[in-house]
Amino acid sequence: MDRRSFLLTGAASLALSRAQAQMNMRGMSGGTMRGMMGTRRQIVPLPEGEPFRELPKLANQSSKPGTFAAMLTAAPGTARFINGLTTPVLAYNGQSPGPMIEVTEGDAVAIQFVNRIGDISTIHWHGVPVPADQDGAAMSPVADGTGRTYSFTLPAGFAAACWYHPHPHMKTAEQVYRGLAGAFIIRPKVDPVPAAYGDTVLQITDLRLDADGSMPDDTMIDRMNGRVGDHLLINGLKNPVLAVDAGARRRFRLLNSTNARFLRLSFDGAPFTLLGTDGGYMEAPVPGQSEVFLPPAGRVDVVVDFAAPGTHVLHTLAYDHGWMGPTRPDESRQNLLTVKVADTKAAAIPPLPSTLRAIEPPGAPIVTRTLVLGESMGGMMGGMSGGGMGMDMTINGRTFDMNRVDLISKVGQVELWEVQNPTDMDHPFHIHGNSFQVRAFVDLKTGTVTPPPRRALLDVVSVPRGQAAQLLVRQMLPGLRMYHCHILEHEDMGMMGLVDVNA
Ligand code: C2O
Ligand code: CU
Ligand code: CU
Repeated sequence: MDRRSFLLTGAASLALSRAQAQMNMRGMSGGTMRGMMGTRRQIVPLPEGEPFRELPKLANQSSKPGTFAAMLTAAPGTARFINGLTTPVLAYNGQSPGPMIEVTEGDAVAIQFVNRIGDISTIHWHGVPVPADQDGAAMSPVADGTGRTYSFTLPAGFAAACWYHPHPHMKTAEQVYRGLAGAFIIRPKVDPVPAAYGDTVLQITDLRLDADGSMPDDTMIDRMNGRVGDHLLINGLKNPVLAVDAGARRRFRLLNSTNARFLRLSFDGAPFTLLGTDGGYMEAPVPGQSEVFLPPAGRVDVVVDFAAPGTHVLHTLAYDHGWMGPTRPDESRQNLLTVKVADTKAAAIPPLPSTLRAIEPPGAPIVTRTLVLGESMGGMMGGMSGGGMGMDMTINGRTFDMNRVDLISKVGQVELWEVQNPTDMDHPFHIHGNSFQVRAFVDLKTGTVTPPPRRALLDVVSVPRGQAAQLLVRQMLPGLRMYHCHILEHEDMGMMGLVDVNA
């Protein structure tokens, strides 16, 4: 049978029967099994419409200019999403999402991490160009009850909305969906965008709750597709309400810190002006966008125009990213944020600058690499060890091994990475260490080449099924770097590799 139809028609039932046999051996009930397969659940409604709240900031303990020092303790905590029900979560400094870190380009940063979650963890600084040994990668786990300090100096010229999250081997997905993720905003010394636009971070998380208020474990369907929860939250709230004046133009940084959501977002017709992506500003503002797209882990920097009185809801639009097995959730029309535009006129603000910065073309690649993403059934005979529950997620046919170097590179070398996706679903591909530029997407069947509409710096790109993404990659710091699918379940199941960047 060809692989595609095997995956589409046979996989779920085969996996179910094999897994069922194993469960029975392990004394688990059919009910548990159905739960693990991800049978449709009753969605517990969450209160909506509370006032919007900004993310709390992590206080800087250092008074020395140009330095940022703080402590982050990861530990179990509780949240209250539904009145009368307590939800056990994992939190940084008691908060989920974690406190927002706000620093300036060129700052020397020292963050003392204390791990009290009861398992290994790390803090990875997603998108931040930090030295390899400060990157919080799986190769440097921090044991429960211990800590370490992450210290790095931010390069001049790099300002962007990044984030932080755990990256322990095979445990990243669970630690993130249970609450460990926070925003990491690097401001430029001089911002070309006037302060009158404001600057509000909208951190998007994905919550799934059982009727008792607890978060259920990942199911087999979650492992295959990535966890898609019941509720999208903004800064920890479901569809909060933000009031603005008519004619207001507001700057938002959207951060997708969900495990696996491909977010196609509209503001009910309020137009977006795109200012920046993962790696900071575009070359010039791009006005007149009716929607934005954020793959898992992606960020955009936008200005939204609220011209006339009324209500604008930030919500998801339908997006087909491929799905394996049954119980495909409906991911369209989920409301994230309600903006109420008052009758009062907003004060006039200066226009946006016509240019933001230059993005240098990376130059001609001197090395070309091919990375083929893969999904394969068959781990099941080996039992449930590894957490894959019957599936391997691979790059070039291999699952992640932290003791194996997959690629050898060199500091400053421009490389073309062709990331091919012959699988049945889209995979968001992420590289540690430095941002990259997309040269083009290539259709694997027809060979049609589609360059991106404009230059942009990314650290994660959605590689649609049946296509390849050609990435221009250039690492500027030596050491071992991970690259992987940012559907966190896929990363945990092995769709990850290591590049050793030599000095
Ligand atoms: Cu967001 Cu390897 O990380
Ligand atoms: Cu990363
Ligand atoms: Cu993936």
